[in-house]
Amino acid sequence: MLAAANPTPLPGPKSRISELFEFRRRPLARLTELHRAYGDTVGFKLGQKQVVLLAGPEGVARVLVENHRNYEKQSLGYQKLRLALGEGLLTSDGDFWRRQRRIAQPAFHRDRLMNLGSHMTESTVKMLNEWDSAPSHVDVAKQMMTLTLDIIGRTMFSRPMSEFATDVGQVMDVALHYLDERMNSLTAPLSFVERLPLPSNRRFRAAMRDADQMMVNLIAERRGSAKDPGDLLSMLLDMKDEETGETMTDRQLRDEMMTMIAAGHETTANALTWTFYLLSQHPDAGERLRRELETQLAGRVPSVSDLPKLTFLTSVIKESMRLYPPAWIISRNAVEADPVVQIPKGAIVIVSPYVTHRSARHWMAPERFDPDRFSAERASSIPKHAYFPFGGGPRQCIGVGFAMMEAQLLLATIAQRYAFELEPGHKIELDPSITLRPKGGMPMKRIRLPSRELRSVG
Ligand code: HEM
Repeated sequence: MLAAANPTPLPGPKSRISELFEFRRRPLARLTELHRAYGDTVGFKLGQKQVVLLAGPEGVARVLVENHRNYEKQSLGYQKLRLALGEGLLTSDGDFWRRQRRIAQPAFHRDRLMNLGSHMTESTVKMLNEWDSAPSHVDVAKQMMTLTLDIIGRTMFSRPMSEFATDVGQVMDVALHYLDERMNSLTAPLSFVERLPLPSNRRFRAAMRDADQMMVNLIAERRGSAKDPGDLLSMLLDMKDEETGETMTDRQLRDEMMTMIAAGHETTANALTWTFYLLSQHPDAGERLRRELETQLAGRVPSVSDLPKLTFLTSVIKESMRLYPPAWIISRNAVEADPVVQIPKGAIVIVSPYVTHRSARHWMAPERFDPDRFSAERASSIPKHAYFPFGGGPRQCIGVGFAMMEAQLLLATIAQRYAFELEPGHKIELDPSITLRPKGGMPMKRIRLPSRELRSVG
């Protein structure tokens, strides 16, 4: 029998043990170096695992869209996320995921989202009123996290998070830190470590018990109530699979609710934090933004119908997510070989919005903050799949409409009353954990603008 010819090796560095340590220590810098040195397709080894980075738009399209069924979410990162999120939309695969997505999709329909806008601005105005009598030095990262969590509470459960018996922020903090640690630990592949009686495991399990109890109470309370507040929870409870007529079990509801809380607040909070940072570094853009807000809103709290007119504001958010994409890495494992993009069977495939968004092969002056790239005149020249902060294809973020609307409304509300300056001497460093955070938060000084009070309409 003839031996199969060895496929041409992928461009990439020589295999070395230290690669794993280096990758864990500085993943963004390492991925960027590999892309610059070897191009759009780079093969390298992390321990025993063959990894392929696809940094060009064609590779991104191949993995997320054209051949998405070949790429599953069984990579180590997703295995660890399952410890907290179970088999929710973000972490499940195959037919089970398809059914869950079909059931959940209508809850994110544009018409439904339109009703959520006022919850978002109400939370924001409340925060601004508190700011007015608070010290002017704030950690903007923390403030945005609290605000977006509160909004998830109001929109999903019709209740601000502060009214929950459980401190959801604390639970999520413990859970996400633990998962991040597990993903980056050298013992990550050894799942028995998670069952050892270690303090970190105990803390995580206690947090999960609190979260489970909270979800059980919420579901039971809602099932026993005659009122339908029309929020995301009631939509998920009412949803019937169009094909089978099945509804979600309590376990599935728990997993989906945990998923929405986890996927739905830290990402948007980081997008806004980086936006305020970029505006503080580019006062001209801040000025232009305020002029747009003055022209279009004149001191009014924005509503969803104002958003199409806020074109510069939208470009600022998009440009901020280009430079600092909250979901900085998307990983999959290849079920079968994919010769079109030279992927061997079983390889871990990485597409990274951070690397592709900053690639000089695909963007002009990629390091420059230039919101006008996303203006109506210029946006059409952005290559398809060179910009993918929300992923792409069938597994694109289900919350894309929710997140964009939230980021727009919050920025339009906050920027009418406050501008920010970075604390002098604070050095910006990236913390690429589950989402792309600023290391040590974002300490800033709030500057109250001499504008009128925000007025609500209606
Ligand atoms: C700026 C904010 C956000 C960003 C940058 C973002 C980014 C992403 C990305 C890149 C994915 C795809 C992951 C992959 O393919 O492996 C994703 C999936 C997902 N996101 Fe978001 N997201 C954001 C906000 C939200 C919000 C607000 C929600 C919910 C309220 C949400 C819920 C989800 C869910 C459930 C999935 C899994 C979808 C599926 O596989 O069917 N996200 N998100």
